[in-house]
Amino acid sequence: MQDYKEFLSEVLIPPDVLQARIKELGAQISQDFAGSPILLICILRGGVMFLTDLIRSISTPVAIDFMAVSSYGAGRRESSGEVRITLDLNTSLTGRHVILVEDIIDSGRTLYSVMELLHTRKPKSICVCTLLDKSERREVDVPLRYVGFSIPNKFVFGYGLDLDEYYRNLPFIGVVDLERYHPDSGAEYAS
Ligand code: PRP
Repeated sequence: MQDYKEFLSEVLIPPDVLQARIKELGAQISQDFAGSPILLICILRGGVMFLTDLIRSISTPVAIDFMAVSSYGAGRRESSGEVRITLDLNTSLTGRHVILVEDIIDSGRTLYSVMELLHTRKPKSICVCTLLDKSERREVDVPLRYVGFSIPNKFVFGYGLDLDEYYRNLPFIGVVDLERYHPDSGAEYAS
C-alpha cells in the first residue's frame, strides 16, 4: 500500500480551512432552522467524516441516520445514477425537516435518485448539504442548498473520500496524481 505522499499532487483544502468552513455551514443551518429539530441523513460512506464534524457545529436539535446505495453498472470511479438501496433508514421522514449530507456531488445522478425516493416518504422539507461541489461534471440538475467548497474537475481524495476504499482518514482534501498512484493489484475492492 502506497504512502499518500507518493501520489499527492497538491493539498486542495487543508484541515484548518475545512474545519472553519464546516463551522460556518453548521452556524448557517442552525440559523435557518432556528430551534426546529432536523434529521441529517448521511449517504455512506464518504459523507461520514463531514457529518460528524458538521453536527458538532449545529445548535438546533439534531438526529442522524444513515443510508447506503450502490450504483448499477457503474465503474469504480463514476456512478451510473440508477441506485439500489443497500442499507435503508431506520427512521420515518414524515413531517420532518431533512438534510441530506454528502461528501461530493459529481454527475448528480446518485443524489437525484436518492432525492426522488426520499420525497415519496413525505418529509416536511428536504434539502442537500454537500462538502464539495464538482459542478463541471454535472449531468443532472440537483438543487444544493449548502455547499462547502466548489472545486475544479480534479481527482480528489481524503477527508471521507476514498481511493479504492483507502485514505478516507486523511484530514485534508488532496488531489491525486494518477501517474504516480498504483492501486494494489491484489486488493479486493468493496462495491
Ligand atoms: C460518491 C459520493 C456520492 C457520489 C457522487 O460516492 O459520496 O454519493 O459518489 O457521484 P455522482 O454525483 O456522480 O452520483 P461513492 O459511490 O464514491 O461511494 P462512497 O461514498 O462509499 O465512497
